[in-house]
Amino acid sequence: MALGEAIARRRSVRVYSSEAVELWEVSRLLWAAQGITQSAEGLRSVPSAGALYPLEVFLVAGNVRHLPIGVYRYRPQTHQLLGVHQRDVQSELSLAALGQHWVADAALVLIIAADFQRTTAKYGQRGIRYVLMEVGHAAQNVYLECTSLGLGTVLVGAFYDDQVQAILQLPPQEEPLAVLPIGRL
Ligand SMILES: Cc1cc2nc3c(=O)[nH]c(=O)nc-3n(C[C@H](O)[C@H](O)[C@H](O)COP(=O)(O)O)c2cc1C
Repeated sequence: MALGEAIARRRSVRVYSSEAVELWEVSRLLWAAQGITQSAEGLRSVPSAGALYPLEVFLVAGNVRHLPIGVYRYRPQTHQLLGVHQRDVQSELSLAALGQHWVADAALVLIIAADFQRTTAKYGQRGIRYVLMEVGHAAQNVYLECTSLGLGTVLVGAFYDDQVQAILQLPPQEEPLAVLPIGRL
């Protein structure tokens, strides 16, 4: 799909079919969100102030073929998933997002978290806005890759931070900022 067509067709989608999502599609989505695109310098798919890369992407796998249910952390440097735990947390995550049922219904959920300190250490208070801009870049890439793959997503910004942090077992310095449920149309 041409980029212009993906931009034109992009929509927030809150109803998904029960079909599984393929592992190669998840690979594409993670790469779109934070993948390495220039390995010598470690530069990524989205711009980052000072190339400091404060974002961390997590995957909650529910119905992904050949991937056990559970929570994973994406490691861009090697394009790998690191297991966090293998509990089924999608219902809990949906409740933490004020009961938005599309979070429970999705085949998978991507969560974008940020360690603000990585950017504010260099840019001070101004770094906060830089990190928030970067989350927008990453989320839009996920939206456009979904559109191109025939998947649907919606950026969920309404959730209890502390609950999402606990469900994903995030270290205290990593704050969840965006929840993206994803499923086949
Ligand atoms: C920062 C932000 C937070 C959002 N939070 C939610 C949310 O919690 N739940 C939801 O269903 N949609 C949420 N949305 C999606 C918007 O409702 C959606 O983008 C808007 O209605 C425009 O529709 P479109 O994305 O299809 O163009 C959010 C969007 C943004 C940018």
